[in-house]
Amino acid sequence: MNILKSIGFITLGSSLLLGAPQQAKQDKQFQNVIKIGKKSSLLLLKTLGSNMKKNMKAGGPMKALDFCSQEAYTLTEIVNKKLPKGVSIKRISTKYRNPVNQPQGSEKEVLASLEKLQSLHVILPKQIVQKVDAQTYKYYKPLVINKQVCLKCHGDITNAALKRAIDERYPQDKAKHYKMGDLRGAIVVTIDKFVK
Ligand code: HEC
Repeated sequence: MNILKSIGFITLGSSLLLGAPQQAKQDKQFQNVIKIGKKSSLLLLKTLGSNMKKNMKAGGPMKALDFCSQEAYTLTEIVNKKLPKGVSIKRISTKYRNPVNQPQGSEKEVLASLEKLQSLHVILPKQIVQKVDAQTYKYYKPLVINKQVCLKCHGDITNAALKRAIDERYPQDKAKHYKMGDLRGAIVVTIDKFVK
């Protein structure tokens, strides 16, 4: 009974602090951000994943590399066009292969914090949400090297022709020497001018 009472007290306390209607609005926005973020990041992951698999099956890692370097960005743009107005998606990494995937502004610190957590053996959350300003949120989905296939192109690359092709296309590549379970980066869904 005492525990129940104190939970009630805490909830009441926080709604008094923010004002109940404002709190309810904020909660609703937050739920919506998570819903949109989940849906959009799944769409991107599925689109990239299924195409990568198809190419890998058809022509091995060299063909899959062609796919990644020529189409990953275009496919991301296609996914972007399918998203609701004000919503956009991208991939970011501190150790990027393509410089367009560099984290921008505070995304750097968010990624660095996730890296820090991982170095402390904290199990990473499936998603985190950043409130950028009154109407803009960023939904981050941490991307971990979770399949052996990722290591073909992001691990200690053993296929000499593949390594050469990657180095030619990406002279400043930072995305090698990953190990299974490492944090590779994140998907960021930006939800802008969010009103409902
Ligand atoms: C066949 C080679 C290949 C495989 C396999 C591969 N990648 Fe990549 N990856 C690339 C290339 C090439 C790029 C750069 C794409 C571009 O130019 O937009 C890239 C980019 C990325 C990026 C964007 C950030 C950056 O570094 O530019 C992430 C995140 C990523 N890969 C994660 C993964 C994960 C996770 C897996 C396993 C499921 C994986 N990759 C498997 C070749 C590969």
